[in-house]
Amino acid sequence: SKGEYPHYMRKEIEMQDVSLANAIQGRIDDDGTTPDLDPFPPGTFAAIERIQFVACGTSFHAAKYGAQLLNNAGIPAQSFRASEYDDSIPVDEQTLVVAVTQSGETADTLRAFECAASGGARTVAVTNVVGSTAAREADDALFIRAGPEIGVAATKTFSSQVVVLSLLAHRVSADVADVAPWDDPAAFYDALERLPEDVRTVLDRGDAERVAEEFLGSDAFFFIGRGPGYPVAIEGALKFKEITYEHAEGFAAGELKHGPLALVTPRTPVFTVVTGDDNGTTVTNAEEAQTRGAPIVAVSAPGHRIDDVADASLQIPASHPDLAGLLANVQLQLLSYHTADRLGRAIDKPRNLAKSVTVE
Ligand code: M6R
Repeated sequence: SKGEYPHYMRKEIEMQDVSLANAIQGRIDDDGTTPDLDPFPPGTFAAIERIQFVACGTSFHAAKYGAQLLNNAGIPAQSFRASEYDDSIPVDEQTLVVAVTQSGETADTLRAFECAASGGARTVAVTNVVGSTAAREADDALFIRAGPEIGVAATKTFSSQVVVLSLLAHRVSADVADVAPWDDPAAFYDALERLPEDVRTVLDRGDAERVAEEFLGSDAFFFIGRGPGYPVAIEGALKFKEITYEHAEGFAAGELKHGPLALVTPRTPVFTVVTGDDNGTTVTNAEEAQTRGAPIVAVSAPGHRIDDVADASLQIPASHPDLAGLLANVQLQLLSYHTADRLGRAIDKPRNLAKSVTVE
């Protein structure tokens, strides 16, 4: 039940400290620097040369995030929107195809998965639902343990997908022989163990509600980010359009000046996600929008140079760069929620949408 919460979505956002603790539970080795990921003992992925993710919607954004982490670790990884995946994409026995799907029943994802399997790829389903079609059809399944998600908007499951995919990325990179070891894994695992607490800090801040109020009535809402901040920007925009029905778009920060800047006005706030030090490039991109009058809302940890530029901020605690995007996304979930709530939208069942999309 919703309990004390006005909407399932609110409850699912609020309980993310708990769902993330479940996703992590028992999955870090005693040494604190390697994953302990059932059913994948060390060496499982020794023969793998490349990874392809297939997913839709929010799960695609988590997959894109996961692909970034693998690429940073030196493993070739690509993410595909499942509806765009077909047998023209080369696969072989050295390819690991990972379907990321909360429900495990999304038709486009299942079809892409079948296509990969018939091409000889090894398959893993990352899903929330034990016994789902994806879990049954995959060679192996990895569960995100987020508990049932009732709101049509995916929230806690995105966060748990990101965590589980980061652990999978660590497993694969440890197994693949000619890849250099992950840089300072202890720092990542420390941050991972702190993550439920950090999410709690974000949930208790209250700044998202104030910022939502401040920008109600804007013409459009833009979200920008780079690196792991990019999937968060497009996820922020998807959630925003899905439940507020307002026009929202996510862009790679560097792409603004290649077209979208023409849409930027004093009535289009630009939510700027920064997940680490990128030599200030994203700040420069935000300034390009600010010069055209757009209010800049920083989604970042304190002390980042975006603070010198920003007109408002959605703060996150300092974390590991691989996890900062997840924290930033929680702020954007709250922003969408409070905006939709103020507009009186049908938050748990947005118009025209279904929780599980079982047609192609
Ligand atoms: O069950 P799945 O993760 O495969 O669903 C994929 C998308 O339909 C889903 O993430 C959708 O984009 C969400 N409603 C967005 O909040």
